[in-house]
Amino acid sequence: MVLYFSGTGNTEYIAKLIADGLGDTCLDLLDRIKNNDKSPLYSEKTYIICAPIYVCEMPLFLVRYLKSISFNGNNKVYFVFTSGGYAGSAKVQAKLFSLKKKLKCLGCVEFVMPRNYVANDKYSMDNEEVIYSKIENSTKKVKQVVEDIKNENKLNTRHVWFFETLIIAPFALLWTKYKLVAKDFYATDECIGCRVCEKVCPLNNVKIVDKKPKWGGNCTHCMACISKCPKKAIEYGNLTQGKTRYLLKDYVPAKIKN
Ligand SMILES: Cc1cc2nc3c(=O)[nH]c(=O)nc-3n(C[C@H](O)[C@H](O)[C@H](O)COP(=O)(O)O)c2cc1C
Repeated sequence: MVLYFSGTGNTEYIAKLIADGLGDTCLDLLDRIKNNDKSPLYSEKTYIICAPIYVCEMPLFLVRYLKSISFNGNNKVYFVFTSGGYAGSAKVQAKLFSLKKKLKCLGCVEFVMPRNYVANDKYSMDNEEVIYSKIENSTKKVKQVVEDIKNENKLNTRHVWFFETLIIAPFALLWTKYKLVAKDFYATDECIGCRVCEKVCPLNNVKIVDKKPKWGGNCTHCMACISKCPKKAIEYGNLTQGKTRYLLKDYVPAKIKN
């Protein structure tokens, strides 16, 4: 069973390609997370957990959710990360998670995908050429990964140095708590109150009040609300004006070169 969370489509895309290749089921965790649905999972086949990388790790809210549910049937797991280019210590996080859940981790793999983090001023967004080339390379890589999973081969990402983990773990925790916050989100006059932002928020942090979205105190900066707004009516402080939002579906499948 392939499980995924995806804010802007990259992880969903890779998860679905892998599930297709394996002839396996693919489960979007969004509704389960939104509804706090902790019913146990059951799979005859190996679990494949697919996650974007936030602050050099898998999103903390996602790991917390996964820790809270039972994985029945098969006891093996692979992890698939989609990142903008640096998956940090997610591999260590995945191993610790597997230990805690008594799952046998058969390895992790990273797919470098387009950057989606529009609401920040530290990293620029990828240009079109880079976007297409990342998607194309990752699409090609899926075939080999599917073969490896079919044969239960160990998957390997680059070595994570101990000092990286030591630095990243507290950094990610603090950054997530103090920097991935919603206080600067607002809707412009273009907003039509369509509720898409409310529906796509994994943490139920967006509520429509008087036909306009209001953000609460539980945000993870997944970029789903701002990137999926059909009217491009959501901004984040002065960081996002005039910047192109990233959504995988704007680039796939029409322009993927084989
Ligand atoms: C809050 C946030 C933090 C991110 N941090 C990292 C990071 O540390 N390293 C990295 O390579 N990419 C980082 N990214 C980029 C995403 O991991 C990447 O674009 C991912 O494929 C998005 O997946 P999705 O479209 O399924 O949401 C970050 C994105 C967001 C929104």
